Amino acid sequence: MPATNPIGIFDSGYGGLTIMKEIVTKLPQYDYIYLGDNARAPYGNRSFDTVYHYTLECVKWFFKQGCPLVVLACNTASAKALRTIQQNDLEKIAPDNRVLGVIRPTTEVIGNYTNSRSIGILGTNGTVHSGSYEIEIHKFFPDVKVYQEACPMWVPLIENNEHQSKGADFFVRKNLENLLETAPDIDTILLACTHYPLMLEKIKEYAPIDVTIISQGDIVANSLADYLRRHPEMEERLSKGSSKQFYTTDSPEDFNNKGSLFFGEEVNSKHLDLDSD
Ligand code: DGL
Repeated sequence: MPATNPIGIFDSGYGGLTIMKEIVTKLPQYDYIYLGDNARAPYGNRSFDTVYHYTLECVKWFFKQGCPLVVLACNTASAKALRTIQQNDLEKIAPDNRVLGVIRPTTEVIGNYTNSRSIGILGTNGTVHSGSYEIEIHKFFPDVKVYQEACPMWVPLIENNEHQSKGADFFVRKNLENLLETAPDIDTILLACTHYPLMLEKIKEYAPIDVTIISQGDIVANSLADYLRRHPEMEERLSKGSSKQFYTTDSPEDFNNKGSLFFGEEVNSKHLDLDSD
């Protein structure tokens, strides 16, 4: 039986599974639906307008499935679509529902990790050029200096399962060197793309040993748990059957194969045709 009021988790592709994994570990009692818009991924190089329209379309689909709460487990969608959806669309389409992102929870705590007060952000072109991290971090930690490096090749390498290859070393080294050249005192690097934790070992290989590398999964899961504690009216609406459903706009076979790498356990997905829905 399909879950009645699951938590929706959205990403352009597989990356959000790294966030979902931590959320499900922290909050196993709820029902979950994951949607990867793999057919239109990557979002990283797409315009504001395109990312906004794709994301809104998927959010509406989650609402149709009965999700009162949707987490955009994608930095690019959080940077380019979340604010407009929260401020303009929600009121018109589902005023009692909520959509949360991954940037705000991360920026609320990231300043606690750095001693040198210099942080490096690695993300997609879309996330980096939106300036969202810089703006949000300065709201919470005005003294922290933020340096960014866009890594447009990393998501395609990961999506094509080439992230362990020698070819990936070239791009990881190049992007880390670019970042650290601009600010050698960086002591904390945030992986501001939900795909990047899959390359963690390689990133650590090329980062200086005393630099802390932060993935967002744990941070977002803690923040969601805190949100639900502070919003009992939302918590009560969520169904609690510990189920997980996975949807992809592309091939379920591919999604199942690669998705299990990201999720760390077997995933069984269904195809979603947004046009016919
Ligand atoms: N996983 C997404 C993020 O966190 C981006 C992947 C993409 O470019 O579609 O930004």
